[in-house]
Amino acid sequence: LLISKHNLGIWAANYVAKKINDFKPSKEKPFVLGLPTGSTPLDMYNELIRLNKEGKVSFKHVVTFNMDEYVGLAEDHPESYHYYMHHNFFRHIDINKKNINILDGNAKDLDAECEKYEEKIAKVGGIHIQLGGVGEDGHLAFNEPGSSLASKTRSKDLNLSTIIANSRFFGGDIEKTPKLALTIGIDTVMQAKEVIVMAKGFNKAQAVCQAIEGAVSSMCPITALQYHKKALIICDEHAAYEL
Ligand code: GLP
Repeated sequence: LLISKHNLGIWAANYVAKKINDFKPSKEKPFVLGLPTGSTPLDMYNELIRLNKEGKVSFKHVVTFNMDEYVGLAEDHPESYHYYMHHNFFRHIDINKKNINILDGNAKDLDAECEKYEEKIAKVGGIHIQLGGVGEDGHLAFNEPGSSLASKTRSKDLNLSTIIANSRFFGGDIEKTPKLALTIGIDTVMQAKEVIVMAKGFNKAQAVCQAIEGAVSSMCPITALQYHKKALIICDEHAAYEL
């Protein structure tokens, strides 16, 4: 656990950049990053863009896998995670488009899409650093409470509380808010060599407390990280309030 008095996104970005630079990735041996969406990681993306523009880190040999995507939203829908990633990060950096992986929520066969994703992760040798945010209820990516801790990439029905929370992005209209998503599983996260979860604000205090001091349970998926060899939660003082 790291409680930051400063901007935790900036800390995370510099940590990631250093790991990439120390690894010295090449075409044959790329660095593999697992990436999140949400409001929490935006500061990290902005700092990574700055470091890239200043020549302090390159993404030329970095392969990325996003955590999740809604089912049934067009890729250019402003709330799709495809749009978020391109708009907030990829179009500003020197990454090779071929190295970007995001689950296709419009695939004809969703199960096959998820299986293929796991295969692709395995083929590049696994994820070096999995970055993430956390939901107020302890969800990781779209692994809602009740998700199996052994889960792999799959489709997931969203809980009513998540649908209600997300409806603010869809004009407050529950009807228009996606009810299904594709998401990497908890075991997919556990297989990453290193995991970093970022949490900001009082609304995340319960989830952070459960993650660190709670019993490991599928009802709070982030608690699985207690079993991970190298998991770090970085949060501000508000998110650490219940510890
Ligand atoms: C969604 C995403 C999660 C994210 C969470 C919190 O549920 N699928 O990956 O961690 O939102 O988002 P925020 O950072 O905006 O609080």
